[in-house]
Amino acid sequence: MKSPPPQPPDSITDQEAQAFLRDGFLVLRGVIRDSELAVLRRAMDGLLAYGLEQVRDHPDYAYGRGHLTGRPILHRVEYVIDKTEEAKVLLGHPYILRSVEKLQGKDFIPTWDSLVIKLPGEGMQVPWHRDAGMECVGDAPIFNVDFYLDEADLDTCVWVFPGSQGWTEERVSEITSREGFSTEGATPVPMHPGDVLLHNILLVHGSPPNTSHKLRRVIYYEFRPAHVELALGPHTPAYIPLKQKVLQSCIERRLASSLASAENPYHYSPPPPFEVHRTQGEELVTYRYPHEEFWRR
Ligand SMILES: [Fe+2]
Repeated sequence: MKSPPPQPPDSITDQEAQAFLRDGFLVLRGVIRDSELAVLRRAMDGLLAYGLEQVRDHPDYAYGRGHLTGRPILHRVEYVIDKTEEAKVLLGHPYILRSVEKLQGKDFIPTWDSLVIKLPGEGMQVPWHRDAGMECVGDAPIFNVDFYLDEADLDTCVWVFPGSQGWTEERVSEITSREGFSTEGATPVPMHPGDVLLHNILLVHGSPPNTSHKLRRVIYYEFRPAHVELALGPHTPAYIPLKQKVLQSCIERRLASSLASAENPYHYSPPPPFEVHRTQGEELVTYRYPHEEFWRR
């Protein structure tokens, strides 16, 4: 008798969670299925084409100075969830959301959502950095979920210092003040299309300038526990229910998508005082809540 095909796991395992807490990052292989990967790539290509057509005078399209030509090089597009249906559906990914819950608790909210790009021939260097400082970190790790749409090899991948989420500012600055991009002592994190990387916002990471002819597109979704956001910011309390509605709406969109039939859906049920007051099916006017409109300071 043929045994049934193995079911995909519901979330990261306890062992994986421990590894993430220890190292500050975690590689998850083959999370995004080929069919979803294909539509995500198409959707992100649309944003890429818009940003490449000309240097856009638009706050969501970020250009840096190319290390070879000095020309403006597109390296980031913000608020991709507002811009495409595919990115909304991706936010509802049940395995990812259960894994975020496992690490942060049931009151997590989505915060940043960005497309990060390394263009062929002149991919921007990302200097050694932490994504944020310690001042808004509470009792659970804040982290990014990085969805790889392309291969990231030793030319294009991110490099990390495992465990550096626990370093002192002084030790961090020894790395961030390095001249150029020396990978001495660091660990490369090569990724394949469809893989997902979780990285703590305090992890020291970066990537060298890319002179190869490879395109690397990664979608970054950051998550934070609502109780930490409420206590420490950086956004005002008003931001929390707005982003919870974004999350709920995206979960519903995933449920309505063709991907849902093969998945065990995620139910978002944050504890008091973070219950969501939203009518099921309520359409949102926007999925873009500019950070600068919600800063506390
Ligand atoms: Fe970063």
